[in-house]
Amino acid sequence: AGQPVNGIPAKAISPNLFGIFFEDISYAADGGLYAELIQNRSFEYTPADRRNWHSLTAWEYLTKGYGYGSLSVETKAPVHPNNPHYVVLNVDDAGQEGVGLVNDGFDGIVIRAGEQYDFSVFTRLLSAQPIPVTVQLRSKKGEIYAETTFTAAAKSWKKYSLALTPGKSDDSARLAIVAKTKGILAIDMVSLFPHKTFHGRTNGLRPDLAQAVADLQPKFMRFPGGCLVHGDGLDNMYRWKNTIGPVEERKEQRNIWSYHQSTGLGYFEYFQFCEDIGAKPLPVVPAAVSCQNSGGTWAIGGTGQKALPLADMSGYIQEILDLVEYANGSATSKWGAKRAAAGHPAPFHLEYLAIGNEDKQTPEFRERFKMIYDAVKKKYPNITLIGTSGPGFEGEDFEEGWAFANKYGWQMMDEHYYENPEWFLAHTHRYDQYNRNGSKVYIGEYASKGNTLFNAMSEALYMTGLERNGDVVSMASYAPLLARTAHTSWNPNLIYFTGNSVSLTPNYYVQQLFSRNNGDVYYDNVVSFSPADSHTAGASCVKDTKTGDVIIKLVNAGDTPVTATASLPPLGTRSGMAVITVLSGESKTSTQAVIKTTDFKPGETLSYTLPPYSLSVIRAKTK
Ligand code: AHR
Repeated sequence: AGQPVNGIPAKAISPNLFGIFFEDISYAADGGLYAELIQNRSFEYTPADRRNWHSLTAWEYLTKGYGYGSLSVETKAPVHPNNPHYVVLNVDDAGQEGVGLVNDGFDGIVIRAGEQYDFSVFTRLLSAQPIPVTVQLRSKKGEIYAETTFTAAAKSWKKYSLALTPGKSDDSARLAIVAKTKGILAIDMVSLFPHKTFHGRTNGLRPDLAQAVADLQPKFMRFPGGCLVHGDGLDNMYRWKNTIGPVEERKEQRNIWSYHQSTGLGYFEYFQFCEDIGAKPLPVVPAAVSCQNSGGTWAIGGTGQKALPLADMSGYIQEILDLVEYANGSATSKWGAKRAAAGHPAPFHLEYLAIGNEDKQTPEFRERFKMIYDAVKKKYPNITLIGTSGPGFEGEDFEEGWAFANKYGWQMMDEHYYENPEWFLAHTHRYDQYNRNGSKVYIGEYASKGNTLFNAMSEALYMTGLERNGDVVSMASYAPLLARTAHTSWNPNLIYFTGNSVSLTPNYYVQQLFSRNNGDVYYDNVVSFSPADSHTAGASCVKDTKTGDVIIKLVNAGDTPVTATASLPPLGTRSGMAVITVLSGESKTSTQAVIKTTDFKPGETLSYTLPPYSLSVIRAKTK
């Protein structure tokens, strides 16, 4: 690999160039990829999450049929101290229909007729006699689609699990829990999952959304953020240990994007998802400072502290070392055993770890970053560590971040930028001049501020430049990945969804075509264009040595056709053995992509006219 073929200059490039970045933003996790259908299942919402939110947000007290009683939120002797709130249902008179509570999920609960839903709840009986409890899936107006009953008899917290199969479909159903006799019952962790989750995992993921992500065939997945990682105050940093183990023992917290993290989708689930979709895991840990070293001064409940006290650093560093052991250690190691207990005795093969996210290059940050970097490198020299260069493609933090990286020789640097499509068109050569002997680049976040075909093509053209520079740019991920329509904290995104739909943007298809047609060798100067001076046309040519296929990507981000020519025999392509996939659309501003794959029979000299605003990927066999 990397040797010229028949006079064509070649170089080895990263085989992991195109991946994804998952952040719990815009309801990407809770109310999104995480398949839990109950919102605020453990009564932990607070006004710190969002003004007006409280323990009973998304819940309603149900007293129909002349029953009466009361509902209160308590904290004494909870299921687990990490999960302090629960409700107490006090039924004075159950009336005809009982007394209980109803949850309306995330914009309503989407249910399908004939499908099974797995319900579970923790209860603790606070009165003498066992209480029969009915669980129902019902419509907004009270029509009952499925019903089942259990008897809450345990005087200490006990989990009950039941299945419900509705007779009708509804996109805005509700879940009701109704006590049918007089008594007092403590209730917590009310959960409802579709029985069918992605890869059939318990505590799993929503299949349609997870499949859309899997269909990108990302080579890696960065998680769990973004700004979510460093949080907006030290008490809001994402600490991985809070997110593993039984869900009722995990520590929930405010989401920096003004909602709530249940942490039901935690580090175990992230690692497992990566494995399920064949993506290398790339966790990001906070560099012991909070967002822009803000100290949470603009956060509700912020402490004003900018960075973890130095006295806490050895404990914090140990926490990061423990993460590597959790992912890669044997099932008998302390943290590997916790992974095994969660059902995964084999390691998760962690190769990458990012430290920090867009952090301001202050002395506090540098000191802590270096302490973490050095300690992890010493104990785990084979893990590739990634530093951060601040937000934006240039500027003081960016320059200082890179100077810091060069001074100490960090292995890889994370760059983030969100710019107009014109910027991407004008900067396709950005990495041509990057130092080949310094830190490698991970473009952890980028997007061209829009979901039109033109935006997507500007990204595609830019990505040909990333392939051309795949010897210095090791990885790149579009951001953000997922957004629930009506709850977007950030635009644009790659995939939009509601409770019952998934919509894929033109940008998604660009990412997919590049990721599915990646290579590990880059051939230079293979394609020429007519007109030759077009600034909106570009190409890249790679070989995937595993399959032997040569892949040419041709982008036209302009409004007039362009012709591309290339001589194929030197690349060893077999005549007539190629397919072409063309991504195009109705117009520059279209937000719908049209994709077509057909057999392609290029002659010895490829001569191909690229339609306006199109990406064409030619995949030719050499074996
Ligand atoms: O991708 C959205 C946000 O943009 C990320 O959380 C942050 O890293 C960046 O500023």
